[in-house]
Amino acid sequence: MIDLHVHILPGLDDGPENWVTALKMARLAEADGLTAIVATPHLFRHRRVCQGEMNSAASIRAAVRELRQVLAEAGVKVSIHPGCEVPLFPELLEMLHQGALLTLNDGGRYLCLEMPDTVIPPATEEVVFQLGLQGVTPILAHPERHPVFREMPEKLVRLLHLGCLAQITASSLVGGFGRQVAKFTEKLVKGGYVQLVASDAHDARGRPPLLSPALKKLARLVGESRAWDMVSSLPERIIRGEPL
Ligand SMILES: [Fe+2]
Repeated sequence: MIDLHVHILPGLDDGPENWVTALKMARLAEADGLTAIVATPHLFRHRRVCQGEMNSAASIRAAVRELRQVLAEAGVKVSIHPGCEVPLFPELLEMLHQGALLTLNDGGRYLCLEMPDTVIPPATEEVVFQLGLQGVTPILAHPERHPVFREMPEKLVRLLHLGCLAQITASSLVGGFGRQVAKFTEKLVKGGYVQLVASDAHDARGRPPLLSPALKKLARLVGESRAWDMVSSLPERIIRGEPL
C-alpha cells in the first residue's frame, strides 16, 4: 500500500517532534504493509497563511533526504517521497507557477489541497479550474471531515466534476473522527465519490500511519478490487505522475 498524505517530517508542522517519532511512524507504516509514503507537511508551519512561516520546497526536499537516510540506517523499507498539503489561499496559483509549492512526488501533476476549516470559499471552483488548465489535478484532502461538504455534498460533487479527486482519511471510515463523519464517509465511498484513502498521520500514537483497518472496511463496502485501487493502484500512478 501507498500512503499519499502523511505528516512525518519533524519540525516542519504539527507532525512528529523529532526523528525518533518519525522513525517510529515509518516502522508502524512498514508493519501495516505500506511500501511508500508521500511526506505532506502543511505548507505553512502553523497552518495560518503567513509568508514568513512557509515551508519552502527546498526545506521539504532536504527533510525528505534526511528521513530517507534515517530509515536506511534503521533498515526500514518504506520509500519516502516529497509533497506538501496546500491550503486554499489567494497566491496559490502564482506560487505554484514559481515552483514554491511541491506537488506530490514533485511530479507537477497532483496537488494535495486543503479547504479552510469551516468554509468552502467562493473562489474554490475558479482555482480548481485554473489548476486544471496548468495540468495539475487537485486532490481534496479529507472532504468527509468538512462541515460544509457534510451539509451540502453537492458542493463536493461539483468540485469532483471540475476534475478534483477526493482523498478521505483512513480513520474517518472506522470512527476516528466520530459517528457522524464515519456515516458520511461511508456514504461517499458507496456513492463512488472517493478515489483515494490516506492516513493523514501526524504521530505514532494518536494519528498513526495505518491503512489496513480502513482497507478491511473498504473491501466490505465496495469489494476488494476497488478497495485496493484506493490504497495502492491509484496512489502508485499518482506517485509516477501518470493520469488515472
Ligand atoms: Fe494533513
